This record gives sequence, structure tokens and C-alpha cells, in this order.
Amino acid sequence: MYDSGKIITGIVIFVVLVTFPIWYNLGRATPPPDPKIDTPVIQEMKVKQCIEPKQAMKGNHMKILDEWRHTVVRNGERIYTAPDGKQYDMSLQNTCMKCHSNKTQFCDQCHNYLKVNPYCWDCHIVPKEKK
Ligand code: HEC
Ligand code: HEC
Ligand code: HEC
Repeated sequence: MYDSGKIITGIVIFVVLVTFPIWYNLGRATPPPDPKIDTPVIQEMKVKQCIEPKQAMKGNHMKILDEWRHTVVRNGERIYTAPDGKQYDMSLQNTCMKCHSNKTQFCDQCHNYLKVNPYCWDCHIVPKEKK
């Protein structure tokens, strides 16, 4: 005699196993951004911090960049004093990208995920990355 309970259990297990790769990948289709900060310059830092605390940078870096750009281009000023008193040259290439020289592993991680594509790199030079 058939044992319908066992057959159904068998079918369920079979279906789960066969479709496993599909639903396993569904959840991973767009991996969340994972910006890497392991660049040579950042590795040398004793205290690994950005111009402003991480949370502020996450939400405000585009505003900071915009402000820098206006200050440099319109007012000709180039020194930025951060909230903690440290001073930085207001430069996308020479400041941000000196630390974050891994554009594809950093900036692009978030931007690709969010489908934003800042047009800055039409003019500003992307740092060379070791592949
Ligand atoms: C002196 C090196 C340095 C400079 C200059 C620098 N950063 Fe950072 N940045 C870091 C480090 C280190 C972190 C990680 C901070 C942490 O984990 O607390 C970071 C974090 C960030 C984050 C948050 C990343 C995340 O995972 O949420 C963003 C966004 C960012 N930086 C953008 C910029 C931009 C844009 C500039 C230029 C305006 C800039 N950074 C300049 C070293 C730097
Ligand atoms: C932790 C994630 C994250 C990282 C890392 C990051 N960004 Fe962004 N970036 C964002 C988000 C979120 C926005 C806003 C998107 C929006 O609201 O349309 C944005 C927007 C921008 C914009 C404005 C684009 C526009 O069209 O308005 C610029 C410029 C920018 N980022 C530069 C950078 C640079 C340069 C780096 C690397 C040094 C960087 N970002 C790293 C998340 C990130
Ligand atoms: C059409 C070309 C062009 C585009 C596109 C562009 N820039 Fe610029 N940017 C310039 C020029 C030219 C300067 C002046 C360079 C100088 O005086 O050192 C400048 C200066 C700057 C400066 C201050 C000086 C420096 O060395 O970085 C910042 C910050 C800046 N741009 C950020 C941005 C950001 C962020 C974007 C994208 C949202 C962007 N720019 C897009 C051409 C451009």
C-alpha cells in the first residue's frame, strides 16, 4: 500500500531541493552595498575616520561636495575646517579620492545599488585602481 504522507513529504523535499538555487538567489539578487575602506591611505590611519562622523558622511557627503565645489569655484577658498577642527583641502580628487581611492569598491557600491550615477567623473579624474 502507498503511504501518501511519505509521498507528499518526499515531493515537498524534492521540490524544495530542486528550486533551492532559485529562491536562494532571489534573496541575493541585489546584494546590499558593502563599501570597502581598505585602501592604502586609510590602512595607514591610526584612527579610521572620515571628515565627519560616518553617519553624517553617509547622509551628507553630496552636500559637502556641493558646498566644496561652490566655495572653491566661486570664492576661491580651498581650506575646509571640519567640525573637529581638522583642516582639509576642498578637493574631490585630492582629498576624498586620496583616502577613498577604491571608487568601484566604495562610491560605486552604494551608487550602483541606488542607481545614482554622479556625473562628476565626466571631468574629475577617477583614481587608478589596482585590479
Ligand atoms: C582622511 C581620509 C578620508 C577622507 C579625506 C575622506 N574620507 Fe570618507 N571615510 C574615511 C574613513 C576611514 C571612513 C570610515 C569611517 C567609519 O567607519 O567610521 C569613511 C567613510 C565615508 C562614508 C560612509 C561610508 C559608509 O559605509 O557609510 C562616505 C559616504 C564617505 N566617507 C565619503 C567621503 C567623501 C565624499 C569625502 C570627500 C568629501 C571623504 N569621504 C573624505 C576616510 C576618509
Ligand atoms: C554609504 C553609501 C554611499 C557611499 C559609500 C557613497 N555614496 Fe554618494 N550617494 C549615496 C546616496 C544615498 C546618495 C543620494 C542619492 C539620491 O538621493 O539621489 C549619493 C549621492 C551622491 C552624489 C550626488 C549625486 C546626484 O546626482 O545628486 C555625489 C556627488 C556623490 N554621492 C559622491 C560620492 C563619492 C565621490 C563617493 C566616494 C568617495 C560616494 N559618493 C560614496 C550613497 C553613498
Ligand atoms: C563639466 C566638468 C565638471 C563636472 C561635470 C564636475 N566638475 Fe567639479 N570642477 C570642475 C572644474 C573645472 C573645477 C575647478 C578646478 C579647480 O579650480 O581646481 C571643479 C572643481 C570642483 C571641486 C573643488 C576643487 C577640486 O579639486 O575638487 C569640487 C569639490 C568639485 N568640483 C566637485 C564636483 C562634484 C561632486 C561633481 C559631480 C556632482 C563635479 N564636481 C562635476 C569641473 C567639473
